[in-house]
Amino acid sequence: MTRTALNLTPDLHTYAQAHSTTEDGLLAELAAETQRLFPDRTSMQIGADQGVFMTMLTRVMGARDVVEIGTFTGYSTICLARGIAPGGSVLACDVSPEWTSVAQQYWQRAGLGDRISLRLAPALDTLRSLSGEPTFDLAFVDADKENYIPYWEELLPRMRAGGVVLADNTLWRGEVLAPDSPDSPAAYIHSFNEHVHSDDRVETVVLTIGDGLTLSRVRSRD
Ligand SMILES: C[S@@+](CC[C@H](N)C(=O)[O-])C[C@H]1O[C@@H](n2cnc3c(N)ncnc32)[C@H](O)[C@@H]1O
Repeated sequence: MTRTALNLTPDLHTYAQAHSTTEDGLLAELAAETQRLFPDRTSMQIGADQGVFMTMLTRVMGARDVVEIGTFTGYSTICLARGIAPGGSVLACDVSPEWTSVAQQYWQRAGLGDRISLRLAPALDTLRSLSGEPTFDLAFVDADKENYIPYWEELLPRMRAGGVVLADNTLWRGEVLAPDSPDSPAAYIHSFNEHVHSDDRVETVVLTIGDGLTLSRVRSRD
């Protein structure tokens, strides 16, 4: 037995996916349409395995009130919205009318139109316009990397005790080990990782799913 992680080869990743719940036809169609419409941007979308994980986490938590920072064509939003408890909703934040118009078509087709509301504005403005009270059970951060720390600081007071903040791309293709410049995405992500690690309002695990997914659970404030 070893305490280090497996070397996840492409074959082993395929095997793990093949033995997990698979994405359904609608999500597969959305992934294919995103590839067709925005071929240079496909890597922005979360993978199928991460989507299954996020639906399951949302469901297991019984999350009701969810916020997503960075929606693109709406794949991750569907994964979150499918997991929320009855009466819950996802507030989806993005700045692109073009990308989110695809998202809105697929939300309707998934029968989730009434569980998702879209805010087209810089997400920091959207967060600052909300009540400062704890209102969210789950947050997913997947937008501009230079703003991950400001997103974190706006989100934390708005998270319920026991709530979870998920942050995507926190291993940045491995480049967090040696960012090539101080203003690269890898450097911003490394600063975010240090920031979260030193924050005792949360307990945190960096999952090696996808491009790195940090899961931070908000401790009770008492
Ligand atoms: C990596 S993509 C999100 C991918 C999406 N979560 C998915 O899995 O399909 C990042 C998104 O963040 C959005 N974005 C960039 N800067 C933003 C900002 N300041 N406020 C809100 N959204 C922003 C972009 O328009 C883009 O759609």
